[in-house]
Amino acid sequence: MSENINRRDVMGIAFGACAAVGGVFALAGMKKAWDPLPSVQAAGTTTVDISTAEANVLYTEKWRGKPVFILKKTPEMVAASSDVVKKRDLVIGDNHYMICIGLCTHLGCIPSYDPKATANEAFLCACHGATYDQAGINTKAPAPLPMLIPPFKLENGKIILGEEGPEYKKMKADGVLGETPLQA
Ligand code: FES
Repeated sequence: MSENINRRDVMGIAFGACAAVGGVFALAGMKKAWDPLPSVQAAGTTTVDISTAEANVLYTEKWRGKPVFILKKTPEMVAASSDVVKKRDLVIGDNHYMICIGLCTHLGCIPSYDPKATANEAFLCACHGATYDQAGINTKAPAPLPMLIPPFKLENGKIILGEEGPEYKKMKADGVLGETPLQA
């Protein structure tokens, strides 16, 4: 009996240890997926260094507990963009970036990005099938609105999420933040 208990205890400890190690690896994997570009978090802001960003690769940063998508566009994507899409782009020199909060505007799931999908269906929300284009503008119901652009500021080539800079204020004045319906 006591041998059984001892075996159970030993197995319990062994399983617990495996679960703990697995949990650490899972957390490390999540951290990597959430924070692929060099970034620094401070009170209410996240500073992201986009100098190493590759075109057509979606980066997901964490800002105030929310995922923020950053997508550097290829020249082909920019050439094919409508005026509304271009107004939602952050432009630095020749480079265009999409920045938006990566939450579906239907019920808040996190859409996934397919770099090989057509421009209009670049993001798919698997929860109920909504799609968004490469600017984060909703292209298929039930998403009612574009993904929201968070406040951001440019400083020394880095993006500071959580502060309003001139580029963000211009988007706000243009009415393209995602608070109202848009047509790409
Ligand atoms: S939460 Fe995205 S389609 Fe419903």
